[in-house]
Amino acid sequence: MAFDKLDKSALPQHIAIIMDGNGRWAKKRGLPRTAGHYKGADNVRNIAHYCYDTGIKVLTLYAFSTENWKRPKAEVDALFKLFKEKLQDYRALMGNRDCVVRFIGDKAPISEDIRESMLSIEEYSSQFAHTGYTFNFAINYGSRDEIVKSVKEIATLCREGKLNIEDIDEKTVSDHLYTCGLPDPDLMIRPSGEQRISNFLLWQSAYTEFYYSDVLWPDFTPKMLEKAIIEYQKRNRRFGGV
Ligand code: IPE
Ligand code: IPE
Ligand code: MG
Repeated sequence: MAFDKLDKSALPQHIAIIMDGNGRWAKKRGLPRTAGHYKGADNVRNIAHYCYDTGIKVLTLYAFSTENWKRPKAEVDALFKLFKEKLQDYRALMGNRDCVVRFIGDKAPISEDIRESMLSIEEYSSQFAHTGYTFNFAINYGSRDEIVKSVKEIATLCREGKLNIEDIDEKTVSDHLYTCGLPDPDLMIRPSGEQRISNFLLWQSAYTEFYYSDVLWPDFTPKMLEKAIIEYQKRNRRFGGV
């Protein structure tokens, strides 16, 4: 049915995904939660390749929230160990697909070796800025924390006399978020059956379309992502107009 096919001329520019459900994926199989995290991490490549090859300009994946530190230390340690292993992959992650990689979130509490690898990948990939493709990986990301960061930076500029309070507008706030310079997400996807935002892109998702799936992240395929995009293409976005 023509209506159910992807319309390449009306793609969302920016897709954000909350990679949730790894723990339940493992539990269902009698495996430790970490096994679910490994399986979930393997899925990043499939989804990232699908997005790039389809022409989605910006993909933002939520990997670790500022609240996830509340988990047992063993799980947090396992997540960062996995992240460190996968980091070796990120340079090659996109294969010959040239895109900017940004790690969004507060890097300060992350161990120095991982932080340095993150910075080096960001620096290496910055040469691909001209392509317009960006892959954001949200690690130690919290939207409230990000907004506080923006407020502090703006307040500092005002204190230093570099910015007038009267000149602060929505763009000023956006420009001091981790996502500065990028379009807001058009489509936000949360697999795993939960229907909440869990402190992800609060400012940026003011007019984002939401799509929920009961499938757990490790089982979420590019085909399912395509189904979500087709559903998105049927929506009527009004942005407050008529
Ligand atoms: C998402 O999967 C990964 C992280 C939050 C790091 P979960 O670990 O939250 O999986 P569930 O929600 O417990 O199934
Ligand atoms: C959100 O998932 C964070 C990530 C997927 C990285 P959580 O599993 O931490 O969210 P809650 O606690 O169920 O809201
Ligand atoms: Mg979860």
